[in-house]
This record gives sequence, structure tokens and C-alpha cells, in this order.
Amino acid sequence: MRRLIAANWKMNKTVSETEDYIKKFLKFVEHPESREILICPPFTSLYVASKLLQGSGVKLGAQNCFYKDSGAYTGEISIPMLKELGCEYVIVGHSERRHIFGENDELINKKVVACVEKGIRPILCVGEKKEEREAGLTFKVVETQIRLALSGVEEHTDKIDIAYEPVWAIGTGIPATPEDAVEVHTFIRNLLNELNPKNQRKTRILYGGSVKPENAAEFMKHEAINGLLVGTASLDPESFAKIVYSF
Ligand code: 13P
Repeated sequence: MRRLIAANWKMNKTVSETEDYIKKFLKFVEHPESREILICPPFTSLYVASKLLQGSGVKLGAQNCFYKDSGAYTGEISIPMLKELGCEYVIVGHSERRHIFGENDELINKKVVACVEKGIRPILCVGEKKEEREAGLTFKVVETQIRLALSGVEEHTDKIDIAYEPVWAIGTGIPATPEDAVEVHTFIRNLLNELNPKNQRKTRILYGGSVKPENAAEFMKHEAINGLLVGTASLDPESFAKIVYSF
């Protein structure tokens, strides 16, 4: 399995800032075939990013999508629109979508199903809040999120990646310990094997939450961690490159 290191820029960088970043980042890229590198800029930067990344081996993804192809859905972006821009991935169910914008498991499931049907690879984000971890509910929360999100596409989990992002570790500077992450990743792997015994590890399970150049290698030395989803530390091209080549 080729490991996946993904940058989630969230609502950061204008078109000109995107140009500047990608030109700098590409200078650090070597052997792109040894690992999968993915950049997920805001929608407004996808076009310019796709032009600049052409032929580099670095993949492009979006941070969200809607499940319908077109129609009266003001403010939404469809999967065909993303695919035309060269997006091969889309982040679905990020905790900021769930908790700031009120996305629920039913909507997230519709998006995951649409991604699988329309041929774009979703990175489904799951993770517990601080109070849920403290109440010993981590596995229950993660299991429920995954079962509901994958409902109806269990046989196609080979076309999906999952990011475990504990909400309390996102943007706080305090990551989960690699051991805690491995525990949850192993739980998710067992659940995936139960949902689709034929999957054979085609779904990558990424860790996200306060990943930095200083701690990336600690996560990546564990076999259960198949990649990283990086927010803040991906906003600087050199810092993201250090994470990409930390293992
Ligand atoms: P940080 O790396 O800023 O904690 O964000 C993680 C994240 O939400 C990636 O999707």
C-alpha cells in the first residue's frame, strides 16, 4: 500500500498565494511514486493548482462536495465539477463540516455513496470529541460514524480512505499519542475487515490532528498508520515537504 500524505488547507490561501506555494513546494518534490502526495486547497484555487501540478505526480483534492450533479443547490459544488478540474480525492465529513456547519451522518453517507458512484476517492473523516474520549466513548463514536457513512457501499470500501482525526487534537497543537492513534486505527481496520472481508487493506487509514514536521515520523513508523492529513503545518511548503519526506 502506497502511503498518503495529504494537505488540508481549509479556508486559507488566495489564488496568487496558491501559485506561490505550489511553485515552492514542487522544488522539494522527488520520487513522487514512493508515496502519494495530495493537496486540498479551497475551491477557488483548484483550477490554478491543477494547472501547476500537471505532470508533477502530486495529486489534487477538494475539501467538500455535494452529492447531486447539478441543480438548484446554491453555494454547493458537485463531483463532476471537481473531476473536470482534475480532483481525484475529496475530503468528506471533516469535523469542521460536522460541528460548525451541522453536517450529519446521513448527509455524509450520501456524499460518500456519490463519490464511490461517480469515481472520486473520498477521504472520510471520523473522530471523537474531548468529552466523548473522557467518557470512554471513542470506539463507539468512531464505529457509529463509520458504519453510517459507509452504509450501502460496504462492498466498495477499497475505493475509500479514512482519516482518524480526534476533534480535540485538531488545531490545538496537542496531537494524540502515536499509541492512542494506533489503537483506534487498529480498531478501524478490524471494523473495515468485518464490513468487507475482501478489502485486503486497500483502504488507507490516515491520522490527522496537530501533525508537524517534528512528530510526523513518530506516527509514520507504525504500520497501522497509512498516512497523514495535515492542516496548519501544511500551509507552509517547506514544513509540508518535511512531513511528506519524514519517513
Ligand atoms: P491541524 O493539522 O491544524 O491540527 O488540522 C488537522 C485537520 O483538521 C486536517 O484535516
